Amino acid sequence: MIEAIDAARSAAEARIAAASTVDELRALDTELLGKKSALADVKAGLGKLATVEEKKSAGQAVNEAMTAVRSALDARIAVVARAERDVQLAAEALDLTEHFVAPGRGRPHIVTQAWQRLEDVFVGLGFQVAEGPEVETDWYNFEALNMPPSHPARSMHDTFYVDHGATGSTVLRTHTSPVQIRVMQTVKPPIYMIMPGRVFRNETTDATHLAVFHQIEGLVIDKGITLADLAGTIDAFTKAFFGEGFGSRLRPSYFPFTEPSAEFDIRTPDGSWLELGGCGMVHPNVLRAGGLDPEEWSGFAFGFGIDRMAKERHGVGDVREMYTNDIRFIEQF
Ligand code: DAH
Repeated sequence: MIEAIDAARSAAEARIAAASTVDELRALDTELLGKKSALADVKAGLGKLATVEEKKSAGQAVNEAMTAVRSALDARIAVVARAERDVQLAAEALDLTEHFVAPGRGRPHIVTQAWQRLEDVFVGLGFQVAEGPEVETDWYNFEALNMPPSHPARSMHDTFYVDHGATGSTVLRTHTSPVQIRVMQTVKPPIYMIMPGRVFRNETTDATHLAVFHQIEGLVIDKGITLADLAGTIDAFTKAFFGEGFGSRLRPSYFPFTEPSAEFDIRTPDGSWLELGGCGMVHPNVLRAGGLDPEEWSGFAFGFGIDRMAKERHGVGDVREMYTNDIRFIEQF
């Protein structure tokens, strides 16, 4: 009897070891341990044994064999199920790399590069950096800058209006100058601040104009600031940003928010002049709008286009090229 049990057990274990799929193993469960299995047969025959001792030891042997077969089966199912799952996962994995050209190392866009360099240079000259909102009120964008609703200079700013509040009260800022007012309202002078950011003009784009572009604003407010400080700062900036071979000049101009106002040009080493931006002494009305007493404080401001600088620096023929995001263009810088 014991031999029969051992033989059935060995045969069962061999079958289990040979099975290679979970389905096969599940089928073996019934075959090896079910009512019609060899071990079940043995168990059913126990009653025919002559002595109690024989029944007892054979019964124990059958139970042990069944337990051993059960755990061999369970262990094998776990191993095979795991292997089947690995195969399935490997088969179902999506190889996204096959649709993906290995990327080269990226770099900042040329406008970002110019923006960062401008910040570096001005921070080196002792300026701090501030930013203001792109969606502005008419008051900050125009009125506080000495441009009341009827002011003719407003027509130079083709304005995008935002459908918010009273009609015409909210705009996409047309320049970074409104940040001057926000800075004066929140920072106690002396102020040595630059304010870079994105600006918007409702105009048709061409080789030198974009509807969305970038400016950097400068504002200095202190005691006894004069036009000479403005000219000196512009010149120091020009040399620090472009190089020692460059120079600068101021040409009389008009802006509502400065008096006197000027345009500043830079002289390239070959002697040609490049128009860069506007500047001037902050108008008393603007100081008052910023909450400062013009009797106590004076200052200068300047503003120019960042995209323009990037364009000139890299000899880009058409500013629109910079925003097509054509990788062949972007990769050059
Ligand atoms: N905001 C002017 C513009 O967008 C540029 C400008 C001119 C800024 C003179 C200034 C300034 O701060 O003093 O055309």
